[in-house]
Amino acid sequence: MSCAKILSPVMPRREFLLAVSAAMAIVSSGAVQAQERKLTVGVVLPLSGTFADQGQHYESGIKLYQKLHGTKVGDVTVETVVRDDQGPGSGDLSRRLTQELILRNKADIILGYSFTPNAMAAATLLTEAKKPAIIINAATSVITEKSPYFARVSFTLPQLAASLGTWAAKNNLKTAYTIVSDYAPGIDAETWFKKSFEAGGGKIVGEARTPISAMEYSPFLQRAMEAKPDLVFAFNPGGDVSVAFMKSAKERGLTKAGIKLLVTGDVVDDSMLPAIGDALDGVISALHYQVELDNPENAKFLKGYHEMYGADAMPSYRVVQAYDGMALIYKALQQTGGKTDADSLMAAIKGAKLDSPRGPIEIDPATRDIIENIYIRRGEQKNGKWSNVAFETLKAVKDPAK
Ligand code: PHB
Repeated sequence: MSCAKILSPVMPRREFLLAVSAAMAIVSSGAVQAQERKLTVGVVLPLSGTFADQGQHYESGIKLYQKLHGTKVGDVTVETVVRDDQGPGSGDLSRRLTQELILRNKADIILGYSFTPNAMAAATLLTEAKKPAIIINAATSVITEKSPYFARVSFTLPQLAASLGTWAAKNNLKTAYTIVSDYAPGIDAETWFKKSFEAGGGKIVGEARTPISAMEYSPFLQRAMEAKPDLVFAFNPGGDVSVAFMKSAKERGLTKAGIKLLVTGDVVDDSMLPAIGDALDGVISALHYQVELDNPENAKFLKGYHEMYGADAMPSYRVVQAYDGMALIYKALQQTGGKTDADSLMAAIKGAKLDSPRGPIEIDPATRDIIENIYIRRGEQKNGKWSNVAFETLKAVKDPAK
């Protein structure tokens, strides 16, 4: 109905009043619509291929968070649009999906990236489009420096590797052989283990780099054993690849030969322990989470997880990373009073503090990387089950590479 018709002087009074009330109804329903605000989270995860299990873990963390906390923050509805980046590759697919999420799906913020190349490939695009992105895993230190719109809620390889290097040197281990996946996070792991181990008086006696999706580690382990180091330090990117590495180390008799095995925690993720079995015996690892942590947020998280996925289901730390990614978005929205523009969200994300199932966490306002506790664990059998048992807590660890 046009305004001209509503205001027409020749319109009879009754018709005029009806027209006015109809117009008011239209205006007020518009007002209701304007109040129905929404934040679209574009989610980029590996949901197919060798590392599809990782995507499932992240997705279950996102779903669990929304089940426990609802889909609204104030009057803003938080909706997710999920896309499959198929795991590590050139990053082209990840960039294209990120672009589509922003342009077609009108994503206000991106959550995702399990693999470094996939996060790196999206950096310039995020900067140009001015869209914040919460990294839920990709762990090469330098990523967050590639866009001012990146923040990371997971960990960096230097955080884990340097913690292990320091621990090894302190515990009287003198020589090490490193075996890492041959791409950026592996190089970070190798560099930072070496730096901290050597700073404590240790010596690296050999290094090997393995293909990212390698399922065969015998030749690498054989060469490491021939070098007779006190320890082998390893990083590989989780899932079947890490199970294969652990089984191979057991078959080769690495620890039987008196060589200690130290790994970043993703290699012995709690959810993979049934597959790793006794290959976990005595293995030292560093990670920011483990299921046994005793804090109220972890109790709530585990209760919700078991209700959703079954009493015997064992959450991966990757579930926690995605859960915390959503927690960070909710917290930022609360702080902005529902504003969804990039600059308001980023201002709220920088310096955000949260109680996570892994303990207290903070987004370092200077680097947009996470500050968190790192737990040093030992593989042991507990109540008939293989577990990573924490025996040392390093408090509020920053990324040492920045
Ligand atoms: C990475 O590509 O940055 C990455 C992937 C899997 C991991 C750790 C790091 O477990």
